[in-house]
Amino acid sequence: MLQEVYYPKKEMFKDPAFKNMCEYHELVEEFEKDYEGTWAKFAREKITWFEDFKQTLDTSNAPFYKWFVGGKLNVAYQCIDRHLENRKNKAAIIWEGDNGEKRIITYLELYREVNRFANLLKSLGVKKGDRVVIYMPMIPEAAFAMLACARIGAIHSVVFGGFSAEALKDRILDAEAKVVITADGAFRKGSPYMLKPTVDIALEGVDIVEKVIVVERNNEDIEWVSGRDISYNDLIVNQSDECPAEIMDSEDPLFLLYTSGSTGKPKGVQHAQAGYILWAQLTMEWVFDIKDNDTYWCTADIGWITGHTYIVYGPLAAGATTLMFEGVLTYPDSGRAWKMVEEYKVNQFYTAPTAIRLLNKMGPDEPKKYDLSSLRILGTVGEPIDPPAWKWYYEVVGGGRCSIVDTWWQTETGGHMITPLPAATPVKPASATFPLPGIFAEIIDETGERMPAHEKGLLCITKPWPSMIRTIWGDPERFVKSYFSTAKKMGEPVYFSGDGAMYDEDGYIWITGRVDDVINVSGHRLGTAEIEAAIKKHPLIAEVAVVGRPDEIKGESVFAYVVLKGEDTVAEEMEIIKEINEIVKEEIGAIAKVDTVAFVPGLPKTRSGKIMRRILRAIAKGEAITQDTSTLEDPKVVEAIIEVVNSCI
Ligand code: WT7
Repeated sequence: MLQEVYYPKKEMFKDPAFKNMCEYHELVEEFEKDYEGTWAKFAREKITWFEDFKQTLDTSNAPFYKWFVGGKLNVAYQCIDRHLENRKNKAAIIWEGDNGEKRIITYLELYREVNRFANLLKSLGVKKGDRVVIYMPMIPEAAFAMLACARIGAIHSVVFGGFSAEALKDRILDAEAKVVITADGAFRKGSPYMLKPTVDIALEGVDIVEKVIVVERNNEDIEWVSGRDISYNDLIVNQSDECPAEIMDSEDPLFLLYTSGSTGKPKGVQHAQAGYILWAQLTMEWVFDIKDNDTYWCTADIGWITGHTYIVYGPLAAGATTLMFEGVLTYPDSGRAWKMVEEYKVNQFYTAPTAIRLLNKMGPDEPKKYDLSSLRILGTVGEPIDPPAWKWYYEVVGGGRCSIVDTWWQTETGGHMITPLPAATPVKPASATFPLPGIFAEIIDETGERMPAHEKGLLCITKPWPSMIRTIWGDPERFVKSYFSTAKKMGEPVYFSGDGAMYDEDGYIWITGRVDDVINVSGHRLGTAEIEAAIKKHPLIAEVAVVGRPDEIKGESVFAYVVLKGEDTVAEEMEIIKEINEIVKEEIGAIAKVDTVAFVPGLPKTRSGKIMRRILRAIAKGEAITQDTSTLEDPKVVEAIIEVVNSCI
């Protein structure tokens, strides 16, 4: 395989954390020699501790690892208070609304806003350890809400605003939330849209939620439930802007974030205080080369881990200026993103391959119309990026000057795991390159043997790391089963990511995608099991299997094989497709829209009744079937399915 290698333009970087690969290898070795000591050194250097920790890593109850045991800190303090001495008038958050409206919030203002919000929560009886669900648009109050929870030690659980009432309800119930923070709605592509009515539906029959705090953003009419709903805008003005930061233990939960697994309902990924904030901050410095005068822009939504770590916690812990955007990158036209980069002189731009492909498709020459010379680093995350998209990003957006960091990580990892270092790593387009120092990411087989080059294996992380998932909220068994039951190294269970990957001849890591039943649609992680459970609610459907199918823009699209209970006509099928999508929208949200429905006579099953998903995946991708189908319960069904699929393409 002959691949192009791109070297960092050294003149773009003044004082990077890693100037070259030697410095990278030195730190990797330091971690190899003294794993705990090196982590302890960074933790003491980067975190403002109220009380030092006693033990760096406690493995006594593996895989429930504990980091920086006995340390006391507060994450909001780490993100705000400690910057007041040198940066009180620096912009912490620059916000741009869908309609171009602007707000700049300095660190001192952020301090006041967060304290007021924290006092408001306290006045409602929210205490350390209580769960607060945040269902918000991309407005600064969403960040204030997260930090206010962190300040008083409440555990937030942000639910992406695109999720339906049903999905929101599931998460509220699972987390047993006491308070929900939402907004009346917000603006998208020039028009108002609503959130509060969805909260009202989600809370029907739910009695654990005592209060709903409503931020009035779009000022559309909403229903107010008396005794339950309160207006943020009315109550915040009377709150004191001083609120002592709760003294938290390193291992107290910081937040839950629900994400899809290969089976069952979404799981509440639980993150802890110290390890998470350490890695959020350190990766901002290492991977984004964040400097005091930079304007950093991550285009994610706070409803996903990228928004948590790389819009709110990481940038603020690093004392940076984070740009937060309410709108859509392609509205009012495909130059919006580049116009904003020019206007704010953005230095680091971080987005998803699906956005890059869309921007490329809608306006391939659009970046050339703007002055993008402030850009130094371009980041990508969420799914494998294809070389053509990579090259457009590099040449046209980055002008051939900027370093591209293709960052592989997950909700569960808390922060970056495998990524180039912008001033050091020679990159190959579409490879996430090497693990960060301190991260023992390896491609192995089930027994821990390292895979030879060009052979696909399991992407595992073979040593615990500070920002790792601590457990699944309320379901420790599922935690062990989901992550620590696939692969072992030296007889010890290791963390398995769910992704497949390959080394090349130079040891570069190439992520090949999920090997489980998780799919990635426009960078949104969805479980095929959840979508199937929704579709099964349709009364005419006997069986369903959902798989991902490659899509030019979205990465993957949702493909459903449906077996009906009775005979049907084409007109009925059209109707059923519509109804399927209505159910999916209600149960999960529009992000899980089913793009293709194949009405098939049956599903390929083993004699014991297990659906052979691998065959279904191959058919949806148009790949040849390599498996032996003769042992299937009904071998002929495969041909029938292929015929149907060919006719619906
Ligand atoms: C899954 C995790 C990490 C924040 C956003 C997604 C895929 C993520 C990359 C990348 C190839 C990637 C993996 C992973 N993924 N980054 N750079 N190259 N694939 O977080 O929703 O938890 O999804 O996203 O399949 O397992 P998430």
